[in-house]
Amino acid sequence: MRAGILRAVVLAAAGTGSALAGSFAIYAQTTPSGCTSIADVPPQYSGIQYGAGIQGLFDNFLTNGGMAGCVDCHTSPASGASGHLDLTDGVSWAHLVNVSSHEDPAIKYVVPNHPEQSLLFQKVNCDVPATGVRMPYQFPPDTLSAEQQAMIYDWIAEGAPVDVTDGIFRGTFDIRGFAQ
Ligand code: HEC
Repeated sequence: MRAGILRAVVLAAAGTGSALAGSFAIYAQTTPSGCTSIADVPPQYSGIQYGAGIQGLFDNFLTNGGMAGCVDCHTSPASGASGHLDLTDGVSWAHLVNVSSHEDPAIKYVVPNHPEQSLLFQKVNCDVPATGVRMPYQFPPDTLSAEQQAMIYDWIAEGAPVDVTDGIFRGTFDIRGFAQ
């Protein structure tokens, strides 16, 4: 118990150093693991359209010409959808941004500007997200390409707008994804 308190204090102190350390201090107990590196995907600061890009991925994430979507399981209405999450066109944004997870209300699906705190990114990027398993469910672990995962990361990092990202420069040292 005492060691636990000490660890929390040390992490809190480290958290004053940088935004990344800060987020790890808050989420120290649930830091995800088995995450795909997106470090090699160039950051996209502007031009990610929610409809064509993010919703397009929810509608069909296969890049080999096939058809499979998050919406196959995350249907409407939410009460009948997998994970009680409706990701269909027209309503998905309102179900994600600043909304608490149905499975773990301590975590939000999307925290604007903080992809590393956002369950949506964790679920597609990591084998062990904060809650549940990697998405898309029961597809091979890396079904979403690193580029698709990075698009979700960049959209959230740019404030998760309902329309299109407009290029907020995030600094010369862009941290992308989780430490491997
Ligand atoms: C074959 C069905 C299926 C597909 C396809 C699927 N999911 Fe899921 N999803 C589930 C199930 C089942 C759960 C609940 C278990 C869990 O959270 O691990 C879930 C849970 C989730 C949750 C967490 C819900 C909560 O309240 O915490 C998110 C976020 C999510 N999925 C996102 C996605 C995204 C994004 C895609 C597409 C890239 C996707 N899912 C594709 C079945 C699916």
